[in-house]
Order: sequence, then structure tokens, then C-alpha cells
Amino acid sequence: MQGLLAWFDANARPLPWRTQTVSPWESLLAEIILQQTRIETGIPYWERIRTAYPTPAALAADTEENLLLLWQGCGYYARARNLYKLAQELDGKPLPKTYDALLKLPGIGPYTAAAVASISHNQPVACVDGNIRRVISRFRAKHMTDSQIQADASALLNTNRPGDWNQALMDLGSQICTPRNPKCNQCPIENNCMASKSEDATEWPMRRSTKQKQIQAAALVIGGDQGIRLEAREGRTLGGLWGVPYAEGKAAVRQLLSGREVKEIGRLRHDFSHKKLHVTVYSANAAATDELRQPESVPLSTLDRKILELFKVHQSEES
Ligand code: ADE
Repeated sequence: MQGLLAWFDANARPLPWRTQTVSPWESLLAEIILQQTRIETGIPYWERIRTAYPTPAALAADTEENLLLLWQGCGYYARARNLYKLAQELDGKPLPKTYDALLKLPGIGPYTAAAVASISHNQPVACVDGNIRRVISRFRAKHMTDSQIQADASALLNTNRPGDWNQALMDLGSQICTPRNPKCNQCPIENNCMASKSEDATEWPMRRSTKQKQIQAAALVIGGDQGIRLEAREGRTLGGLWGVPYAEGKAAVRQLLSGREVKEIGRLRHDFSHKKLHVTVYSANAAATDELRQPESVPLSTLDRKILELFKVHQSEES
């Protein structure tokens, strides 16, 4: 892969954690956010979270709910809950520096541990994310298992500049060796790339099947200007957030809508990586026993914010 670092030196994206000096903690925040969030979306979250929590101790001294308030809209909230756990586990100590010690912390997998160890501490460990997986399997023109990719990434790693090397592969994957229409004629490692010599470089890597289920759901907005009934969400995906009463599937929807006088006020679509939701939104008047809250005061998911927006628009049309 000769030529990769020279290409990176000339073409590295001017990302804020590259153009400024950042601490290993800030680098960790970036890697956790960017693993599942696009760069353009992730940068403002990174800015506000690192500003609010310049050290793990600052995060541990705050509440999980306040972190989730800053995280709301960024998705994959287990990341935020794990980050909070991590800060508490450190208990005032700084982040460890080695790959092995980082890997033991909550929410840190092989990718994140390798990214922080190589970028912040110059440790010779190779990271593999989706971009790097694509670059390597095309470079070899081979369908490879995850462990084959990891072994090859480790063998290819430039141990003098491991952090730059890893980031060069990430940038190459996102700028040049893109999923569709890779720009092979601009690629610094095209000479040795097996896929670029083939008919169709996009034959690699093997696509992982990502079939999204279609799900019918209902949401019930109870209350109005005086406040909305919000419940604490549970479970892996949305635990720690708040939301309006909500159900998926016929039986659960029927149960959700029984026992109150409800009115259909609209429909919306919302996609998660593994499911596509078709949500019918209903409203109902609050009963004396409903505990009402102001939605701005608690962390909400993007889906709940869309539901409340639809409710607000509907209310203003009615009045
Ligand atoms: N995606 C995740 N981490 C990254 C980094 N450090 N540079 C470029 N893209 C990334």
C-alpha cells in the first residue's frame, strides 16, 4: 500500500480532532460518536459533549440523564449509557493508554480501542471499521471473514505512524474507495489493488444482508400545552430516554388505544437500521391521573420529537 501515507498527508480531511490538539478522551468521544453516526451529523455532537465534559471525571460528576440530553437525536443511545458507565468506572483516573486496557472498558470494542491506542498513543494496532473492511477486501479482491480482515489489516499496518495509517484507510474508504462508484483513477494504491484490475471493483466486499422489517406502530400524545404524558423508555435501544405511550404490532396497538377516547391526527415514517416504522399518531385529553411533563425537560429520541412535532402542527391547525 505504498503511497497511502503520502496521499493522506496531502488529502487528509480537516476534521476538528485532527486540526486541533485533542486529548485521548476527546478522541475517544469522536470515535464512539463516529462509529454509528455520519461525520457531518457527528461533529456538532462531539463539540458539545466534549465542551460539557472535558474529562471523564467531569462526566462522572454529572447525571446520565444530562448526558442523554446532549446525545438526543444522535441515535444508538446504548453508546451514551456505556460512556457514562465508563466514566464512573474510571472514578477520576485518566483513560488507560493500551489497547488491552481500553478494550476492558464498557462500550469499547476492538475498533474503538485500536483507534484511540493508535491515534492518541502511537500504539501499533490496526483498526477495522466498515470503510477499512471494504478497502482491504477490494485490495485483495477476496471475500474475507472479519478475522481475516483484521489479520490482514495488522500485517499491512505502518508501525511508524499507526494512527495516521488507520485514519488514512478510513479516509480512503470514505473518499475514494466508496461503496458505489469507487474513484479508482484517483486512488493512491490502485497499482497494487486487485479489485481495480477486475471488471467490477464493487464486487467486494460481500454485502451483509440488512433486511429491514416493516412494522406498524401507534403513538399516543396525551395532554397539550399544560404538558405531555411521557414515560421512561426501557430496553437496549431507547433506555434512559423518555417518550409518549407507544406500541408496535396489532395486539399491542389495540391495547394502547383502549380505555381512552383517542383521535387519529396523522401518520409518519421512521427508519431504524433494522426496522422501518409506519406510525399512526393519536391524541387524547389528559385525565386527572396523567403525570404531565414539558418535553424540553427530558431526553427524547428523534422518533418522539417527530411525533410531538406532528402533534404541534396539528394543534396549531385546529386552533
Ligand atoms: N471515522 C471514525 N473515526 C474517524 C477518524 N478518526 N477519521 C476519519 N474518519 C473516522
